[in-house]
Amino acid sequence: MDAIPHLPVLLEETISRLLTNPDGIYLDGTVGFGGHAEALIKKLSKHGQLIGIDLDPYALEYTKKRLSKHQRFYSLHNGNYREYPLLLQSLDVAKLTGIIFDLGSSSSQLNTGHRGFSFQADAPLDMRFNPGSGMTASEFLQSAGKEEISKVIEVYGEERYHRKIAGRIAQAAEGGNMNTTFDLKLAVSKCVHPRFLTKSLARVFQAIRIKINDELESLKEALANSIEYLQVGGRIAVIS
Ligand SMILES: C[S@@+](CC[C@H](N)C(=O)[O-])C[C@H]1O[C@@H](n2cnc3c(N)ncnc32)[C@H](O)[C@@H]1O
Repeated sequence: MDAIPHLPVLLEETISRLLTNPDGIYLDGTVGFGGHAEALIKKLSKHGQLIGIDLDPYALEYTKKRLSKHQRFYSLHNGNYREYPLLLQSLDVAKLTGIIFDLGSSSSQLNTGHRGFSFQADAPLDMRFNPGSGMTASEFLQSAGKEEISKVIEVYGEERYHRKIAGRIAQAAEGGNMNTTFDLKLAVSKCVHPRFLTKSLARVFQAIRIKINDELESLKEALANSIEYLQVGGRIAVIS
């Protein structure tokens, strides 16, 4: 197997608190490259079960191989964790012992230039966790108005120059020049002092990624459902 593409954060802290019963059923809603999932599965008994979900089909491909060496009961599903109640119904699972959501993007998504998440590599401006569905970042920036772009950068990125940057982005989009990560980088670099550019780029790219993947709405919906699906004494871990 290739080198592990993502090192899980807060691994021991999370798993030691999440696992209350080795015979339980656990949901990893952002299974990614399986770092948390593998640590959890190693501690399950042969009666325990892990259900893993991720939007990213590439990550699931890797995790399928990674978990296959463990003789434990698990299943992996390509989809949005906000829809996990439907998945549980189809698996005939009524209650969960534990749930984990490890938010954001994985290092692999960031480092794989062609996914369009990173301002370090020139690539099509995509940013979808699932490249097979939904609007790309480029399509969004070409169809949204200056006001909407500004709001996204302000709310999801907390970038103080959101208005100026949104104006530049809208102008470039109107001219047909908002197709790549470097088009977006250029628009931001025209509005921010070079000393602050890296931080502003990180904030703007993060904001647009959150918008494209509707990340906060997914989390709100999933957390609201967790009250119903978590068994008494069960635990939920959210890493942000
Ligand atoms: C920080 S990574 C998780 C890493 C994982 N814990 C590991 O150890 O490899 C976040 C993952 O969440 C996925 N993701 C983000 N939003 C999602 C959603 N709404 N539904 C399912 N997966 C999502 C991303 O594709 C990414 O693989």
